[in-house]
Amino acid sequence: MPYAGVIPRYREWLDLPDHTQTISLLEGDTPLVPVPRLAEQMGGGFRLFVKYEGLNPSGSFKDRGMTAAVSEAVGRGAKAVICASTGNTAASAAAYAARAGVKSVVLIPEGKVALGKLAGALAYGAQVVQVEGSFDDALRLVVEISRKHPLALVNSINPYRLEGQKTAAFEICDTLGHAPDWLCLPVGNAGNITAYWMGFRQYHEAKGTGLPKLLGVQAAGAAPLVLGHPVEHPETVATAIRIGRPARGEQALEAAQQSGGRIIAVSDDEILAMQRLLAEEEGLWVEPASAAGLAGLAAEIRAGRFDPKDKTIVAVCTGHGLKDPDAVLRRTPELITVPPRLDALEAVVI
Ligand code: F0G
Repeated sequence: MPYAGVIPRYREWLDLPDHTQTISLLEGDTPLVPVPRLAEQMGGGFRLFVKYEGLNPSGSFKDRGMTAAVSEAVGRGAKAVICASTGNTAASAAAYAARAGVKSVVLIPEGKVALGKLAGALAYGAQVVQVEGSFDDALRLVVEISRKHPLALVNSINPYRLEGQKTAAFEICDTLGHAPDWLCLPVGNAGNITAYWMGFRQYHEAKGTGLPKLLGVQAAGAAPLVLGHPVEHPETVATAIRIGRPARGEQALEAAQQSGGRIIAVSDDEILAMQRLLAEEEGLWVEPASAAGLAGLAAEIRAGRFDPKDKTIVAVCTGHGLKDPDAVLRRTPELITVPPRLDALEAVVI
């Protein structure tokens, strides 16, 4: 049978109502890429893989959960979906709404959404509304309006988002034959880490695939789960995870703790350095937030808080580098320009 997306592939593992009417862009089935050179840079002696979620149809991991949320909403007759977003959820919701032929409304924090995400949401035909405030303000507003009006909320407060999202954990187990020892991933609104833990537990209970320890990583300027309190004015170059009140924060902390792992924070410099290393050493260009999991792993190893020896470690890289071209262009010196002559080219290349 040709690949048909995460719902058909894992239907019996997903708690979706009977009315669900599959809307798919053939999301999922993303590669688990070995990154041995990066592992060497971190000291070596372990197996390191990147779950390259930026290769989903709209360019981020959000598509797994979005296929489920939109399929459920459309199946019960919803004519419009709404979400708050730092960008990727917006693009994903817009894409699946387009696929379903329903309207999408996306609320984004003014001026804080990376170019590729905003362009995506517009391209797929969403109504894009900027909010003078943070993601957290936008999320509060969409919750309120979806209670009053027939707009299906497709943020990860929606339980079906997690049902779809957990398929990433299934895929990792199916590819490796077992769960990894550690799973490292960025944490923003905390839906993803919550869903991974659900998925790993469910597979382990049914198939004995084992459980990973979870290393959740926040940006230091937006680290409510590390600080233990909300952050009123979150700030980070990793705009995807610029969130001060994670909707699933409690569950994320519980998941990390139950797994024997933890949630830590890394600086913007560490995030950008890892983004660059991953691209230049392994040819994988991810957006800044997506490098946070690996940056956290590197920091823990460096500090001697974590012994990776002989371990199998998977880092989830959540969004494609094309989502945020500015993050790279900002640090790029002026481009070299030459007249169309061989000697001029040789002068700069040879
Ligand atoms: N990585 C990327 C690229 C993201 O876009 C997000 C979240 C995360 C990591 C964190 O995932 O929220 O489940 O903990 N982006 C949301 C959005 C908030 O609106 O696109 P999380």
